[in-house]
Amino acid sequence: PDETESLKARVRELLAEKNAVMLAHYYTDPVLQALAEETGGCVADSLEMARFGAAHPAQTMVVAGVRFMGETASILSPEKTILMPDLEATCSLDLGCPEDEFAEFCDAHPDRTVVVYANTSAAVKARADWVVTSSCALDIVDELTANDEKIIWAPDKYLGSYIQKQTGADMLLWDSACIVHEEFKAKGVLDLKKVYPDAAVLVHPESPDAVVEVADVVGSTSQLIKAAASMSNKHYIVATDKAIFYKMQQLAGPDKVLLEAPTGGSGATCRSCAHCPWMALNSLQGVIDALEKGSGRVQVSDELRIEAAKPLQRMLDFTA
Ligand code: 13P
Ligand code: SF4
Repeated sequence: PDETESLKARVRELLAEKNAVMLAHYYTDPVLQALAEETGGCVADSLEMARFGAAHPAQTMVVAGVRFMGETASILSPEKTILMPDLEATCSLDLGCPEDEFAEFCDAHPDRTVVVYANTSAAVKARADWVVTSSCALDIVDELTANDEKIIWAPDKYLGSYIQKQTGADMLLWDSACIVHEEFKAKGVLDLKKVYPDAAVLVHPESPDAVVEVADVVGSTSQLIKAAASMSNKHYIVATDKAIFYKMQQLAGPDKVLLEAPTGGSGATCRSCAHCPWMALNSLQGVIDALEKGSGRVQVSDELRIEAAKPLQRMLDFTA
């Protein structure tokens, strides 16, 4: 604990010295979330991180999250220095959607509007008409469908399938998934509900269809946190990364009991165990190295940035 305190003190000092601001996703270590908040930065979902970064005047930003979040900040604010505690922090959805194969998919369906999830590389975004996050995907696809647009959706097949069912949109789905959310099991959730019959089931839409079907609330990280804060149930079964419990408990209050939704396995059989291995790469030492040495600097080429900024800005304008 003493070592943590001295690392935290060093981060505070460096942020002030460099006039830098820190953004942290709800899935990062609670120590980083608390520090980002305390130093005037933000703790948020991926949409709010993008919005906060684009609007904040600081010249240097430390983005604690995964690679696409750093790239989004850089695309929206090319004049700023964007640093990440660990550049290896990727995402299985980003890895599951290589730009060449995606370009072929788009080329094969030129009549379709290309909608990509924010969890993608700058190159994939550069090919898209729209970027969406789980906070705004339903509203944006609803609007496109009202305009009779047919859609290509990538990369998350579960989020895509959920949106397709909700909106009735004509969507061609890319076949990829989040390794964390795809581990949740509907049977495990229902078994746990037998033990806590009053429990509300909160599910991130990157989870498999069967898990989404047993949910009381389906939503982005910020929407799930709001649900836990506003509902009156005592117990909540939560199907998303367990680092969210820090903010969720804080806003829901100490009397509510948050339970992890069961995953398919444990120990060696569980690849992710409800915690994203890439989000877990973010550390206090990584923040210090980034600010002291300029390591973890996110670079996006001008060519990609100019193209990727268009669908990203469209998302921000739509949700403003
Ligand atoms: P949110 O946009 O809901 O924060 O989700 C980001 C993410 O990576 C979920 O796995
Ligand atoms: Fe990607 Fe899943 Fe990790 Fe979110 S939790 S960053 S979707 S791998």
